[in-house]
Amino acid sequence: MTVGEHVRIYEAGPRDGLQNEAIPVPTATKTRFIELLADAGLREIEATSFVSPRAIPQLADADELMAALPRRPGVRYPVLVPNERGMERAEVAGAEALAVFTAATDAFTAANIGMTVAASLTAFEPVLRRAADLGWWRRAYVSTAFGCPYTGRVEPSAAVDVALRLLALGVDEICFGDTIGVGVPGQVAALTGLAVEAGIPVERIAFHFHDTRGTALANVAAGLDAGVRAFDSSAGGTGGCPYAPGAAGNLATEDLVYLLDASGWATGVSLERVLDAARFITDALGKPLSTKVGQAGGWDRVTGEPVARD
Ligand code: COA
Ligand code: ZN
Repeated sequence: MTVGEHVRIYEAGPRDGLQNEAIPVPTATKTRFIELLADAGLREIEATSFVSPRAIPQLADADELMAALPRRPGVRYPVLVPNERGMERAEVAGAEALAVFTAATDAFTAANIGMTVAASLTAFEPVLRRAADLGWWRRAYVSTAFGCPYTGRVEPSAAVDVALRLLALGVDEICFGDTIGVGVPGQVAALTGLAVEAGIPVERIAFHFHDTRGTALANVAAGLDAGVRAFDSSAGGTGGCPYAPGAAGNLATEDLVYLLDASGWATGVSLERVLDAARFITDALGKPLSTKVGQAGGWDRVTGEPVARD
């Protein structure tokens, strides 16, 4: 690593974090959460999903939320889009960046979006074409890249194969997701190595880890070693996928920022302010802030004092 090299933190809290929370969160609370995240220096904040409101009731207000969200220069608010219907809604609402989502396994896409992986790629084709015409930034998720809740072990070649097909559809970034938090560092290294060998530029790879079994930060370290410079996280460690039994929260943004800062990477994100956003959203959900750095605070290397602890 070059000291001070930049690592992108892709904030997924407003979408992945909230989608699995049972208590309905008012649109104004979501907007405020997103503003606090932008105040913290986050520059990519996945805001919501234009999916079926029956599939994800928590995000049924996507149209209102996107229309109400104040835009800021330099801040991107990607939205999840599953099909042409979602694309139309996203366009009307003024989105400018999207994420399509499929998986390495048919069993998972069947549960999550009611189609096979191959059918999902066909469904994305017109969506991605339209988004390219509009000049939108385009990301694609490959979920269950490290293991599937329905079919178990996933070979890295299965995830890479789907990624290659998505790149051929013109996406800017592939995000490999450890949807149920079963991955370990060796798998991250193997998957990245295979992807790069297959011709996927490492700059186009991001990782999305869940901390279900406490391996998320170790997996980030393995991703960094392998040359990946983009990682997803959710302030407050909320989240999970309702179609992934046993999926716990995302890697917490505050835990990720602490690791990166203390290791000398540049993120542009303020830990104190991420903790403000994390406290805001966990309060709104009526939960304690139970992430590691949420509880312990950061640590000031000069004074030896904890930073921003409750
Ligand atoms: N926005 C709003 N409504 C939509 C929609 C969209 N993008 N796409 C479909 N719908 C509606 C249809 O109008 C239809 O409504 P109706 O029953 O009231 O007529 C209903 O959803 C079913 O539509 P259909 O085309 O038959 O799709 P489906 O039932 O096979 O569902 C998806 C497919 C992809 C729309 C649905 O599975 C989905 O939204 N999944 C998202 C899951 C998710 O977000 N998971 C977490 C992210 S990892
Ligand atoms: Zn997730």
